[in-house]
Amino acid sequence: MARQRVYVTRAVAREALDRIAQAADMEVWPGELPPPYDTVREKAAGADGLLTLLTDRIDADLMRAAPRLKVISNCAVGFDNIDVAEATRRGIVVGNTPGVLTETTADFAFALLVAAARRVTEANNYTRQGKWRTWGPMILLGQDIHHATLGIVGLGRIGSEVARRARGFSMEVLYYDVARHTEAEEAALGVEYVTDLPLLLARSDFVSLHVPLTAGTQHLIGAEQFAAMKSTAVLINTSRGAVVDQHALYEALTSGRLFAAALDVTEVEPIPPDDPLLTLDNIIIAPHIASASFATRRNMALMAADNLLAGLRGELPPNCVNPEARQS
Ligand code: DGY
Repeated sequence: MARQRVYVTRAVAREALDRIAQAADMEVWPGELPPPYDTVREKAAGADGLLTLLTDRIDADLMRAAPRLKVISNCAVGFDNIDVAEATRRGIVVGNTPGVLTETTADFAFALLVAAARRVTEANNYTRQGKWRTWGPMILLGQDIHHATLGIVGLGRIGSEVARRARGFSMEVLYYDVARHTEAEEAALGVEYVTDLPLLLARSDFVSLHVPLTAGTQHLIGAEQFAAMKSTAVLINTSRGAVVDQHALYEALTSGRLFAAALDVTEVEPIPPDDPLLTLDNIIIAPHIASASFATRRNMALMAADNLLAGLRGELPPNCVNPEARQS
């Protein structure tokens, strides 16, 4: 029987590629930058499986041109780059990589929180620019983290791990989510549920976003929400860039409505070099690296490979976001 064909849109961990190559004919896009959309579409046309990254747009048009496609394995927990409804209609299973990146991402969200509150990157620049002339009683003052209130928007896996870290800093932790956790879960995490977002924003010194990007969460945080926040507050976003309205964020950061922000994700990635946010001192912008530890990126790649291979065998991927695709 002919071996199945797989297209991999970027070189992920070697071990994962070896695992795929043992079971299928594999082609890997060799570039450091993502393949153009038309290339992925062309390769998908002859493929049984795709291993994709969040930088690949996998839409209805691409799937229409890929009659053999059985499985799309995204090497990310988020899958807003894939038209899952269309995949389901076509019986294509979609895999993602939850769990393995939870703590690494939470560590980074917390690193951003600390860095923005205590102005760590500004302080580093200050020193390197030769501005450190003496110990100054009013130099680079920031916000206290200990005993402050953290508002978590979206208490899923990553949000829960951020809550655990916050307890180590003696923070009070609030959360808002579409579904409430059980009382036992709330007690175990030491979190308090608030019934609506404006309430959480008004009470929080730090707001950390952990929601997937959907039609309902696009620009969840905009001018109205910044107006509801404390002017001393810090916003942290490690979810998806479009959850925050960046024009409103710029206004909030320049008008004194918001103390600082730290983003791992932006509405357009990479952020255009002329984006006005890049001119501000009170924002940290990282290049979408919250899950970027050696161990986690290896584990994500292995999980993505296993999802892909299961899909090729006609099984449900162990982490499948649309199991209903195989029910018809
Ligand atoms: C994801 O997995 O969705 C992150 O954004 C990248 O690790």
